[in-house]
Amino acid sequence: MGTWLEGKPVADKIRDQVKNEVALCQQTFGKVPGLVGILVGDNPASQSYLRMKEKACQSLGLYGQVLYLAANTARDQLKAKIEDLNNEDKVDGILVQLPLPKGFAAHEVISWINPEKDVDGIHPYSLGLLLQNLPGLRACTPLGVLELIKSAGVGIEGKDVVVIGRSLIVGKPLAAMITNENGTVTICHSKTKNLAQVAARADILIAAMGKPGFIGPEFVKEGALVIDVGSNAVSDKAVVRELFGDDPKREKEIQDKGFTWAGDVQPRVIDKAGWLTPSPGGVGPLTIAMLMRNTLEAFKGRHHF
Ligand code: GUN
Repeated sequence: MGTWLEGKPVADKIRDQVKNEVALCQQTFGKVPGLVGILVGDNPASQSYLRMKEKACQSLGLYGQVLYLAANTARDQLKAKIEDLNNEDKVDGILVQLPLPKGFAAHEVISWINPEKDVDGIHPYSLGLLLQNLPGLRACTPLGVLELIKSAGVGIEGKDVVVIGRSLIVGKPLAAMITNENGTVTICHSKTKNLAQVAARADILIAAMGKPGFIGPEFVKEGALVIDVGSNAVSDKAVVRELFGDDPKREKEIQDKGFTWAGDVQPRVIDKAGWLTPSPGGVGPLTIAMLMRNTLEAFKGRHHF
């Protein structure tokens, strides 16, 4: 039986450090780091993520604001909005919540952000710095995953690390960051052959493909560190029962909210793994903490602090 690796205690430490440094910014410069999130359309999961980010800003003393734009906002209007924020001194971080509604090309929209303010770390310039292992803003969820691995006391150097999922915001930057830390990375995806066997070679297994309960014990080496990045809204009670067993709390959630959050990893994996992050409650709190730290870092970069 492994150990549950909870995100909150790790996130709380980072949040405390950020809070102290934000207070120092106020003392030194008479202003605090600022973050603006942009939501185009009304995706309910995106709304909930942005509310959490805004609340985090408030509790750590950063300036935080969410801009709500209609799904039918014109391309040029969104571009002009981002350019205004690029030129706004009190804004250090700009984040466009993904996914964008149909008709927008995410890569184009992200490219409009000034890389100095790219707190999501997904502008081509930020990704270029990452591949060159040069200092720069890094994607928040991969940064959070690295913090969780560190908190388990597991070193990355020389380890076999398998990342399942190749998204631009998690899988690909995470693989590059682990390479920079001298881990040996395999990236798997929907076309990978013998996925379970490949995954079961990993000392550190990271599930980030967005398929609820896909990872069972057959994917996991005895004693491995397993990080579950998956955060899926599941509304089918039968599916939940099959993947997670009888769980009255989840069933009540489906009754009340219409869905329950589920990770990519089955909770029963805890019996085989050395460590497993819960989902929700594992990676999620770290993503937000790292966004706050990135906004502070962007402020420091812009103020040569
Ligand atoms: N959608 C899901 N996760 C993220 C994230 O970390 N950043 C942005 N911009 N959109 C997301």
